Amino acid sequence: MKLAIATTINGQREEIAVHPNQTLLEFLRDELKLKGAVEGCSVGVCGSCTVLIDGKPVSSCLTLASNIEGKSVTTIEGLSQNGELDPVQQAFLKHQAFQCGFCTTGMIMAVKGLLNAHKQPSEEQARDYLSGNLCRCGTYKEVLAAVKELARP
Ligand code: FES
Ligand code: FES
Repeated sequence: MKLAIATTINGQREEIAVHPNQTLLEFLRDELKLKGAVEGCSVGVCGSCTVLIDGKPVSSCLTLASNIEGKSVTTIEGLSQNGELDPVQQAFLKHQAFQCGFCTTGMIMAVKGLLNAHKQPSEEQARDYLSGNLCRCGTYKEVLAAVKELARP
């Protein structure tokens, strides 16, 4: 049996049907074909599946799809507007804050959440906020450089 819920995904109001035990990550990738959130560890440790719910980053592998009822979900696919990359995406490009790209969509969504919480985050706040996003390629220095630029007044 599926549950019918109303939600907003990347700015679009949606009436959707979800399985009670389906994760948000499964729903986004398998039903909506939004493949930006990536499955890494599946247990809430790596951050590669990060999306925003009401502006706050969550691990979509640990979130039931049914929990987005009445909420607003933003995925990496919802960031660019009118063909323009989001400033966070632009900063990642400028500072080459990625290598293989596996962690990158989750990292970008976590930085969006950081900037929603702190308009001008300190390096300490950024390190703390991004501590749940792992990058096996070790691009942390470049990610922090991108955040530093975005935090400029
Ligand atoms: S896949 Fe969700 S935190 Fe690793
Ligand atoms: S860019 Fe390869 S895991 Fe982060």
